[in-house]
Amino acid sequence: MTRVAVVTGGNKGIGFAIVRGLCKKFKGDVYLTARDEGRGLAAVKELEGEGLSPKFHQLDILSGESIKKLGAFLVDKYGGLDVLVNNAGIAFKQDSTAPFSEQAEVTLKSNYTATLNVCKGLFPILRSHARVVHLSSMTSLNALSKCSSALQSSLKNCKTLTDVDELMAKFEKDVKNGVHQANGWANSAYGVSKIGVTVMTPIQQAELDADETRSDLVVNCCCPGYVDTDMTSHKGLKTIDEGAETPLYLALLPPNSTQPRGEYVSEKKVVKWR
Ligand SMILES: NC(=O)c1ccc[n+]([C@@H]2O[C@H](COP(=O)([O-])OP(=O)(O)OC[C@H]3O[C@@H](n4cnc5c(N)ncnc54)[C@H](OP(=O)(O)O)[C@@H]3O)[C@@H](O)[C@H]2O)c1
Repeated sequence: MTRVAVVTGGNKGIGFAIVRGLCKKFKGDVYLTARDEGRGLAAVKELEGEGLSPKFHQLDILSGESIKKLGAFLVDKYGGLDVLVNNAGIAFKQDSTAPFSEQAEVTLKSNYTATLNVCKGLFPILRSHARVVHLSSMTSLNALSKCSSALQSSLKNCKTLTDVDELMAKFEKDVKNGVHQANGWANSAYGVSKIGVTVMTPIQQAELDADETRSDLVVNCCCPGYVDTDMTSHKGLKTIDEGAETPLYLALLPPNSTQPRGEYVSEKKVVKWR
């Protein structure tokens, strides 16, 4: 049986470096996925130039059809999935002139809803000992601390993914009605989208723990640090390979690791947020 790893948004930035690291350390096939085939194949070629052998599959996390196709391909060729790194994400620039309601809708759709949809599509094919890593952000914890105490309590006490969905939808609705700050939300679409990712992680771990057909499934989220990528307009201080270190550590957690599980991790250390 050949093991297989998938990285979303692997054509550039931190995702590209995670693919590079997995090609060096993961015992199995590594899929660099990208929404744009041209950009994805160019990235594969660059890594081949370094003597590495990533494989390519198209994946637009916003497309249910695209997620379905990848899942069917993995089942057909590998019979399952062993590592999933949910790296793909977006952020509007500080000086964006797009209305905040549009920023909120688009950002939540990509960073929260689409990431969750990838999980819904691919979790059923995870094999025992699979590792899942979500790229969250320290911005999620900053945004959480800026929410009202009532909202912080609601977010920290979400028990189901539906609870998280409802709060994310509430943020979007409050933004549309111009009352999000009055209703206690932090004024950051990106921050709230990543709160969604951080909050869903322990809930997903509990769901995976309850799965009686497979064992030792682990999901964690992390902050890669402040990384020099297009997203940060190259202001980040870490190189992409430095930014990939914590995601790679989580993707490569050895079988039957007891910690971290369902946690938020920064610099390879668990950070408690609730
Ligand atoms: N850089 C930082 O300092 C930092 C800090 C904390 C967290 N993060 C998180 O780390 C992750 C990677 O960030 P980065 O800095 O490497 O960003 P980046 O350089 O902007 O790269 C983002 C990647 O995500 C892909 N992507 C976006 N939407 C997608 C979609 N619908 N389907 C598939 N791929 C999609 C992009 O593809 P295209 O090239 O096609 O657009 C690109 O490959 C993100 O989740 C980000 O929020 C970054």
